[in-house]
Amino acid sequence: MREQIVAGNWKMNNDLAETEELLGEMKMQMVKEPEVTVMVAPAFTNLYPTFQALKDTPVIVAAQNMHESENGAFTGEISAKMLQSIGVTTVILGHSERRAYFHETNEQLAKKVDAAIAAEMRVIFCFGEELEDRKNDKHFSLVESQLKEALFHLSEDAWKNIILAYEPVWAIGTGETASPEQAQEMHKHIRTLLKDNVSASVAENTSILYGGSVKPANAREIFAKEDVDGGLIGGASLKAVDFLEIVNSF
Ligand code: PGA
Repeated sequence: MREQIVAGNWKMNNDLAETEELLGEMKMQMVKEPEVTVMVAPAFTNLYPTFQALKDTPVIVAAQNMHESENGAFTGEISAKMLQSIGVTTVILGHSERRAYFHETNEQLAKKVDAAIAAEMRVIFCFGEELEDRKNDKHFSLVESQLKEALFHLSEDAWKNIILAYEPVWAIGTGETASPEQAQEMHKHIRTLLKDNVSASVAENTSILYGGSVKPANAREIFAKEDVDGGLIGGASLKAVDFLEIVNSF
C-alpha cells in the first residue's frame, strides 16, 4: 500500500512562543500513534526547536523551501546541508506561493529538486493550476508541463524520495476546495503521467497528496478517493485539534 501522509504547512505563521504552544497542544492531543505519516513544516527560525520538541514522536519536521546551491553568496537562503545539520531531511518545494511571489520557475525547481535528491532528502513537490487554467480547460496540460519540466528527468530510483502534492491555486486559502471527484480526476491523471513518463511502479508507489482548503469537515471524503494518499494542510494545520482530526480522517 502507498504511504498515506498528512503534512501541515505552517507558512509564515507563529513566532517561537506560538510554535511551542502549538507543539505542546499537538503532543497533548496525540494520544495514540497516528496510523499515517505526519509532518509539520514550520518557518526556518522554528525548525530546530520543532525538531527538538518532536524527536520523541513519530512526527517528521519539514522545511518550507531551500536553495539549490550547497553554500555561497546567496543572502537570505538556506541549503540542504544546513537543514540536515539540524536533523531536517524533508523539504517542501514548488509551493504556489513560492512560484507566485518569489517567481520560482519549473526550471529553477528542477535544480532545487536535484539538490535535495543529491542530498538524499525527501521532497514534497507542489504544483497545480490557477483558476484561469481550469476555466480554459488547460488544467491537465498545465500540470503535465509542471511535472515534466521539474521532475521527469529524475532517475526511477530518485522517485522513492518524491511525494507529490497537487494543490489547485484557486483552492489554497480560499475556503474553496476541489470536490473529491475533481481531486480524484486530477490524481488519476497524474498517476497516468507517471506511468507514461517514468514507470508503472513509480506510478503505483508515489504518494499524491491533495492540498487546498482541507479541513476536518471535508478531509474524510477527499482522502477516501482511490488516488488521493493524504493532504498538505495550510490554515487548518495551525490548530492542533483540527490538524489531528484531519490526521485521523482515513
Ligand atoms: P490551505 O493551504 O489549506 O490554507 O488552503 C494549503 C497549502 O497552501 O498548502
